[in-house]
Amino acid sequence: MDSITGSTQPPLFDRLDEQKPDALLQLIALAEADTRPEKIDVGVGVYRDAAGGTPILRAVKEAERRLWEAQETKAYLGSQGDPRFTALIRPIVFGESLAAEGRIVGLQTPGGCGALRLGADLIAKANPKARIHVGQPTWPNHGPLIECAGVEMVPYPYYDCDARRILFDQMATALNAAEAGDLVLLHGCCHNPTGADLSAGEWREVADIVARRGLIPYVDLAYQGLGNGLEADAAGTRLVVEAAEQALVAQSCDKNFGVYRERVGNLFVKARSSATADKVFANLMQLARTMWSMPPDHGAAICRLVLDTPELRADWNAELKEMCARIRTLRARLAAYDERLAYIDGQNGMFSMLPLTPDQVLALRKEKGIYMAGSGRFNVVGLSDDNVDRFAAAVVETMDG
Ligand code: LMR
Repeated sequence: MDSITGSTQPPLFDRLDEQKPDALLQLIALAEADTRPEKIDVGVGVYRDAAGGTPILRAVKEAERRLWEAQETKAYLGSQGDPRFTALIRPIVFGESLAAEGRIVGLQTPGGCGALRLGADLIAKANPKARIHVGQPTWPNHGPLIECAGVEMVPYPYYDCDARRILFDQMATALNAAEAGDLVLLHGCCHNPTGADLSAGEWREVADIVARRGLIPYVDLAYQGLGNGLEADAAGTRLVVEAAEQALVAQSCDKNFGVYRERVGNLFVKARSSATADKVFANLMQLARTMWSMPPDHGAAICRLVLDTPELRADWNAELKEMCARIRTLRARLAAYDERLAYIDGQNGMFSMLPLTPDQVLALRKEKGIYMAGSGRFNVVGLSDDNVDRFAAAVVETMDG
């Protein structure tokens, strides 16, 4: 018996460690609480239009309306989610010919995060000693997701923030030294946090190393269509998946359909044979059942309806191109402001990194109401036509010290 409380229960929850809130998600609340009208929120990765809002896409809104009218049941679908949705995403990710490959299985997941975690659990189940090589820097949630599943993470150099360039030679050296059967996490496009993507030639070299060394690519494809278009953004993923006998792709629709909070994604796995692929699928179903039982349907049903309806699909494509063009315009504006920001134009997607210290990032927050991640990562498309120059001026002034 506890002499102070008189309880017969030994402490359970008291044993837990303190936890810091997730820094990126905390940034949303911090920026929202700031009452300064001139504040600039370039923290979490959501698309913003010229008016600073994150509107629901026209095609999504219309699909949602049609769904509301036509949907007759919300009875369970099963742990694989909506197979038609996954079948429609498959050729968008892999292209028609690779998508027809019977050795690739896929199922719907709660966003890209759910896909990444499910894949990590599958890896741990298949090989408790598996290691995954992860380029640095990377999305801050990659490490915790992978380690939570019990997979060992091995860092490799990817990007030099001060020099503003990819460390491809160091990356290639690290991958060449990896052991056969090791996994390699790759950002399919729109690298988060740096915006710095591999060139076509570098992707070819990575595909070559993967094939030669017997490595297993694990591609995180969360921003397809927001860099250089749906096809171009999938080119690297297709190269490495084709080159490897086994591969995983964690895909997300949260950004390219703008359905963030609905949590819409898929995990695809390529196995060595169709028989093994069937076994992989059965294991994924079992793992999903123990984590979320079934993925949330609403967002996936919307995306399925958009992709299955020619006029909605065309409108979605047009809107995606508009989003992409807006990101490009903002990148060009920043690059034109000062030569020290010129590198931003050559990068892709929502993010870029500024060579700022955490103290400088904090000073920008306190003094100018600019909210970006402590790493210096900022969401390019969090800027508006009205504040992009003010943002660039504040950043350059801070760089000058
Ligand atoms: C981001 O990196 O800002 C987004 O992927 C949101 C998240 O979940 O961290």
